[in-house]
Amino acid sequence: MKFYIILILISFTFGFLKEVVSNPTPRPFEAIFNFGDSLSDTGNFLASGAILFPVIGKLPYGETFFQHATGRCSDGRLVIDFIAEAYGLPYLQPYLKVTKDHQKIYNGVNFAVAGATALDVEFFIQEGLAKLLWTNDSLNIQLGWFKKLKPSLCTTKQDCDSYFKKSLFVVGEIGGNDYNYAAFAGNISDLQATVPLVVEEITKTITELIAEGAVELLVPGNLPIGCSAVYLTLFRSKNIEDYDKNGCLKAFNGFAKYHNKQLNLALETLRQKNPHARIIYANYFGAANRFFHAPRHYGFTNGASRACCGGGGPYNFNNSARCGHSNSKACADPTTYANWDGIHLTEAAYRHIAKGLIEGPFTNPPLNPSLFKIA
Ligand SMILES: *[C@@H]1O[C@H](CO)[C@@H](O)[C@H](O)[C@H]1NC(C)=O
Ligand SMILES: *[C@@H]1O[C@H](CO)[C@@H](O)[C@H](O)[C@H]1NC(C)=O
Ligand SMILES: *[C@@H]1O[C@H](CO)[C@@H](O)[C@H](O)[C@H]1NC(C)=O
Repeated sequence: MKFYIILILISFTFGFLKEVVSNPTPRPFEAIFNFGDSLSDTGNFLASGAILFPVIGKLPYGETFFQHATGRCSDGRLVIDFIAEAYGLPYLQPYLKVTKDHQKIYNGVNFAVAGATALDVEFFIQEGLAKLLWTNDSLNIQLGWFKKLKPSLCTTKQDCDSYFKKSLFVVGEIGGNDYNYAAFAGNISDLQATVPLVVEEITKTITELIAEGAVELLVPGNLPIGCSAVYLTLFRSKNIEDYDKNGCLKAFNGFAKYHNKQLNLALETLRQKNPHARIIYANYFGAANRFFHAPRHYGFTNGASRACCGGGGPYNFNNSARCGHSNSKACADPTTYANWDGIHLTEAAYRHIAKGLIEGPFTNPPLNPSLFKIA
């Protein structure tokens, strides 16, 4: 009887060792390359000077996780940071800060810049909005950075193909600012006319990345912008019909949905043209809408639309007293707010969005299973 148990134990142990030695859980991705705006910038805008938004270079930005400002537009980690963690990869270095040291860039690089647009500056010059742009580092400029960096990542076509096959390319969220600049300038008369141009630019970028060897691409859509403190403040209405049951502005959520629908149609065409690629839509709208619908369920006891850090007003967003300015202050516990500074979300909110992408059901088709769960 005793002998029997020992035998079982031995085979159990050896079975386990064999598992580990001959079949270590392969890392789903070796690298992540990210393109986008402030929703995923990990330091490029700050590295470029942050002239038009210098407050992101100091606390309370970064207070929750990094304990210092990193250039992330939040109190802590962003969706892209949680994705990197889940796949067992280091946080992405901002392109404008990396040295071309192969060791440091092997696991990926971040090209996103806060304030960046999908469309180039020429479009905004035409529209008379160029002066509002925080940055000219549009999606096309970011793609140019990737191409410039490529020779230090891999050399032969075969080498690049095999490396990029094991890489995740994240394209977006991008385009939100193309609409924000026009809306914040008070011109919402023709916002929808910009959508096909933005979607075309995203499509062009994905096509070029696939030509460079990208196989797995994650493409996020827009957030429910009608629920954000900045839109709720600037477009405050006396007409209760303008609000949905979550207290969000119907027109702007409808607009975000319109962008997402057009983006999805374009992705479907791209999938047909590139059957070997996996083009995954990330439904940021759906993932975030959960906590706008039921904030308390996600720990947002102070609601999901009111900003944690700001200078007062019904949504704690005041454009002349923004987060980081001396006449504003941050809340005591950012985990009880989904909105960080009126425009951007808290780490707690980004964590829930990332969970919705990695664990489902907000990616289509689903992302590769992650190595680690998001706590
Ligand atoms: C963007 O480009 C325009 C026109 O080329 C220039 O006037 C402006 O200063 C640039 N803005 C930034 C933030 O670099
Ligand atoms: C508003 O935007 C439209 C289209 O983007 C543009 O044609 C128009 O000139 C703008 N109006 C003003 C007052 O800026
Ligand atoms: C916004 O901030 C400015 C500057 O501190 C202040 O004068 C104004 O009263 C504030 N507005 C609201 C609605 O709190």
